[in-house]
Amino acid sequence: MTDAIPQLAAYDDATLDRAFATLATEVTKSVTSEDPEAFRLHWLGRKQGRLKLVSDAWLKSAPAEARKPLGIRFNQLKQQIEAALEAPAANRQVYIQNRIDISLPGTVRSPGIPHPLLTTMDRVVEVFHHLGYSTSLGPQVESDFYNFEALNFPPNHPARDTQDTLQIAGQQSKASRDRLLMRTHTSPVQIRSMLAGPPPLRLVIPGKVHRNDAADATHSPIFHQVEGLCVDTNITFSDLKGTLDHAMRALFGSAVKTRFFPSFFPFTEPSADVQISCIFCGGKGCRKCKHSGWIELLGCGMVDPAVFEAVTAERRRLGLDPTPYDPARISGFAFGMGVERIAMILHGVSDIGHFYSGDLRFLEQFA
Ligand code: DAH
Repeated sequence: MTDAIPQLAAYDDATLDRAFATLATEVTKSVTSEDPEAFRLHWLGRKQGRLKLVSDAWLKSAPAEARKPLGIRFNQLKQQIEAALEAPAANRQVYIQNRIDISLPGTVRSPGIPHPLLTTMDRVVEVFHHLGYSTSLGPQVESDFYNFEALNFPPNHPARDTQDTLQIAGQQSKASRDRLLMRTHTSPVQIRSMLAGPPPLRLVIPGKVHRNDAADATHSPIFHQVEGLCVDTNITFSDLKGTLDHAMRALFGSAVKTRFFPSFFPFTEPSADVQISCIFCGGKGCRKCKHSGWIELLGCGMVDPAVFEAVTAERRRLGLDPTPYDPARISGFAFGMGVERIAMILHGVSDIGHFYSGDLRFLEQFA
């Protein structure tokens, strides 16, 4: 809308025709069906309305004989404005003339969905919730003590080489146990949980972990794990086997078989790698299982007494009751699995990078 008052050069009919036609177009263009009151005020406002301002200006300098025809024309214009105010259908017509298609759909925004890695993590966690486990969480920036030492990786021990670690800079002046790093696994939360309270413990620990690994089709420097910890009196390897066998069938279907292979982790003794029968070929052998019929899925074992001893010593150092984790009285098992690996198997994803690419063509498949 133009706000300047148009000048009137002469008062003959032709000039008046043109001047009022311009005003009439201005009226038509400024009709809004959204805010009729603003439109009314703009034109008919008693003190600052445009009709009043224009008619004052034009009448003031008009010769006496021109006043009457001017008054008549202003009256007609006023009627036109009032008609526009009373006729919503006509307003819509004006919109169409101005080429705004009010029947066009608005901007459609897709609803968000949980990321497939989160959905997978939730599924694993839920399986254990049904067995009575609770969720425990810990920080991603962790100290050497929790990530390694208390888990029976002594300083400079070669077992540390299996987890290429990202250190936080500028820690040299600290004692080695207090130096900070990005946690390489969710296992440090085992230690935190045992310092937080006495057994019995049945915990699932989902979370993000970091390693100084080059990215390729199956590795990413940032990935996710779900850890488990069960500590109580008389926990045996059979409990571990039964629990994981159930969990694998809950996750991959009741036809899935599990088998346990001897392995090594500093914080479990004995340790095992768990394999499941290939869910793609049912165990017959195919490209996905490298023709072995089995897929390796997770690590587990009985909590090493050295871990309970480290927890006991730390509880004593912190002034907590040291007795509950005496390895002579209790035992436990632990396990840890990679969320990306499970999601890749469940959904047939061949490159881990898809999970982090943010490519909607990939993500929309999980909507
Ligand atoms: N923390 C191990 C890793 O990241 C995985 C693991 C293995 C966790 C055995 C456990 C366990 O709790 O008992 O490689």
